Amino acid sequence: MKIKIIIPLVITLLSINSYADECNTFTKSTLNIPDNVKKTILSLNYPEQSKSFMPWLSENFEEDWKKYMTVVLSSIESDVSFENEKITLVNYEKWFSSPWMDYGNAGREPLNGLTRERGPRPKDVAPNSPGGGQVWAVGWYNDVASTTLSEVFKNPCDPVIDSDFSFSEGSVAIKFLFTTLDENAIPYLKGSPTIKSYIDPSNIAGRGRPNQRVISTLRLLQVDIAVKDKRALDTGWVFGTFAWMNSASKTVFDSLVPVSLAWGDDPAVYNDDIKQSRINTELHGLMFGWDERPFLGFMGRANGPADNAISSCISCHGSAQFPRPKIGNLDTRTSVQSAMKNFNVRKKLVDSRFVNQPAGSLFDDSIKGAVGMDYSLQLQAGIERLCEAWCNGDLIGEPSLCKLDTGFRYTPARCDTLKGFSNNKFLRLKPEAFIKENLPNSEIQKLLDNPRG
Ligand code: HEC
Repeated sequence: MKIKIIIPLVITLLSINSYADECNTFTKSTLNIPDNVKKTILSLNYPEQSKSFMPWLSENFEEDWKKYMTVVLSSIESDVSFENEKITLVNYEKWFSSPWMDYGNAGREPLNGLTRERGPRPKDVAPNSPGGGQVWAVGWYNDVASTTLSEVFKNPCDPVIDSDFSFSEGSVAIKFLFTTLDENAIPYLKGSPTIKSYIDPSNIAGRGRPNQRVISTLRLLQVDIAVKDKRALDTGWVFGTFAWMNSASKTVFDSLVPVSLAWGDDPAVYNDDIKQSRINTELHGLMFGWDERPFLGFMGRANGPADNAISSCISCHGSAQFPRPKIGNLDTRTSVQSAMKNFNVRKKLVDSRFVNQPAGSLFDDSIKGAVGMDYSLQLQAGIERLCEAWCNGDLIGEPSLCKLDTGFRYTPARCDTLKGFSNNKFLRLKPEAFIKENLPNSEIQKLLDNPRG
């Protein structure tokens, strides 16, 4: 009996490669930097069919939101481990990695497959937390969502995304976010599990290059979930987040507290009368509720401590598409304070970004040929990096998606014109909308590295 179970498992593990191996014309995977360490294994053997059941369907997210998200989280509890200062996926038949995240300055590092995320500003994550910390994350899609990835990435070097692209009911993504800040900076991180990863050196201004990364310790800060659930009538998705809370003895999953959940973004609500989000009010004063961080997501919408308060889970994710919307995935110029003070600023922000985007529809349809990504920003980041790699000559063979006939068109000519623009290789790819807006180079680089802002 035992042997029967073990043999298929060994075969599955042997056939899992890094994405660079699957698409052998791609040469610059950040998973190989440095190349002398034992690499994490990406889970890329996407299933064509799924077996998952949906235990959260017995819970009502509007009535008992904490219970709903706890049931979703428990679906991954026995499938990841936090041992030996690593986060490791142990069930390669249920959870799957998103491809093409292993390229560029924010690309996956080798030990845990983490990508770089937005770093918190001073007083962002706790009343006295400093700026300068880094946040890195890794996430997986469940088997239901991965049957969709299997169709998109049939040819791993040349993905196809149809205009009616959407994930199936029961799709789930779960993401674990880690920070270099410790309990002195964020008191509620006491006892949080640590991992070691190759990340940017702490003394570097702005973003580092993959070959400058150094091994460092990070702590679990936040765990995000996204569930395709048709009871979320306006958006098709439920987004929620947990944070590590001050624990010395319990297991990792017992120490995560529900922070917030949303199934909509309260369009046209300009005050704090938010109905489609739930927030854990016990965290007031610990995670939000002071001048620099008045709320988690804009005006009380759901978001996590690591997220930008000018946005919300639903707002940022609802704009996932390729090419990226002309106004980007979030507003990087308006400050929370100015939006709170000035009604017109606030109205403009809410009307342009806090909309209930129906699942599978396109946020910015003014870009010719653009495809919607049904709330998946990993997919957006992956396709952008794929085109960036091709544009930079690190992937041979032009992926069809990069040829979209749009203002963002990534063509060899385009890549070449941009070459003179800067000697920074990663800046060669410069979507036309950014040129028009006349954004400074540093701002473009930031957007290309990390749509999370
Ligand atoms: C301002 C933008 C922004 C906000 C706000 C945001 N995210 Fe994300 N999220 C991203 C980006 C970008 C990625 C993909 C890139 C990465 O993981 O590095 C991502 C990835 C994810 C993933 C992996 C699956 C996917 O869709 O790519 C989940 C799950 C997720 N976020 C959940 C949440 C939840 C829950 C919240 C709110 C608590 C939230 N996010 C808020 C930008 C955002």
